[in-house]
Amino acid sequence: MGIANKHVILGVTGGIAAYKSADLARRLREQGAEVRVVMTLNAGQFITPLTMQAVSGHPVHSDLLDPEAEAGMGHIELARWADVVLIAPATANFISRFARGIADDLLTTLCLATQAPIALAPAMNQQMWQNPATQDNIAILNNRGVPILGPAVGDQACGETGPGRMLEPVELIEGVSKLFESGALEGCNVMVTAGPTWEAIDPVRGITNHSSGKMGYAVAHAAAEAGARVILVSGPTALQTPPRVDRVSVLSAQQMYDAVMSKISDTDIFISVAAVADYRPRASADEKIKKHADTLSLELIKNPDILSAVAEHKHVYTVGFAAETTNVEQHAREKLISKGVDLIAANKVGAGKGFGTEDNALILVDRTGLKSLPQARKARLARCLIDEISQRRNAKSTSQDTRQARR
Ligand code: C5P
Repeated sequence: MGIANKHVILGVTGGIAAYKSADLARRLREQGAEVRVVMTLNAGQFITPLTMQAVSGHPVHSDLLDPEAEAGMGHIELARWADVVLIAPATANFISRFARGIADDLLTTLCLATQAPIALAPAMNQQMWQNPATQDNIAILNNRGVPILGPAVGDQACGETGPGRMLEPVELIEGVSKLFESGALEGCNVMVTAGPTWEAIDPVRGITNHSSGKMGYAVAHAAAEAGARVILVSGPTALQTPPRVDRVSVLSAQQMYDAVMSKISDTDIFISVAAVADYRPRASADEKIKKHADTLSLELIKNPDILSAVAEHKHVYTVGFAAETTNVEQHAREKLISKGVDLIAANKVGAGKGFGTEDNALILVDRTGLKSLPQARKARLARCLIDEISQRRNAKSTSQDTRQARR
């Protein structure tokens, strides 16, 4: 699926291969990624910040303790902004500091602060690469699941031949793209509802909910990246359908219910992110209602609860969202039971929180307990949610298999 629209932090450390980082930044952007460059002090000896600024289209970040820089996009904002951090080139010194959790400059600090995957492209003299100290550090990082891209074997700038060449930019981009394709939901059919519903009062007026659809679309996108076949049943939004996702557009809650139910027998996982209107006018007027009277009464009737209806289909792993303004955990627990679902993803909404924003935070509640997914971009949060769903669904089917075997 590539790296289009992904937020990439390109970390450049001080090695001769840094001259290739400019080409790497340019190619990342060519493929649709957004790139921010963070350079160490030594990197500036090999390639200028001005070059990296020109190719990335944004000022380079390098100071941790510069109040002006921190006031713009500081290390925490950068850490949250990232979908992935790619350190290319990664010197022996950087690898050592990163492996030990040292945070004495902007790049190492943001590596500790980010939840995004961090990939390293080592580049150094072959003796330095093969040195037991470096290999010990690489073993630590391998253990931690840090993707190490390369190094390649071949001629080196120092005149020697061996392992230690940085991979070429195209190879690095391929390696980074693969990080987004976990395969966790390979072979699964996932259905996601998203956006608001529209309950017509007359041909020009209606009742709706506040929802941009961003979270639901991000969840559908993340599920497709994880290898699932995804159907997105969407109310009216201004968003583009994510790649490899089948979208069914609906207006009302009843239409959403019908669209969901028509495909439920083929669904393995149902994720209900839509802000469905609880009530609709009993009848929608055929013509625009004129404002003659001083008062106007509308009789509302209840819409079907789509999520509860799906939860009755026991073959489906069901996930509901709960947007709450207070007592988020308590309401989430109640909803888990009252709707009979497997997992509730709850978030606090209100002024500047949740609706239409780029960031969100979630509390996941299921019958085994509670877990927080801290504030992050919706795209990143959606990927974490998909990982959690895939693990919990596997755990659930394993425990069901064990129970059946005991009978
Ligand atoms: O009951 P409440 O609206 O708070 O529950 C929220 C969850 O239920 C969300 O996952 C939402 O998509 C789903 N829902 C639904 N059908 C409704 C109302 C809510 O699927 N009629």
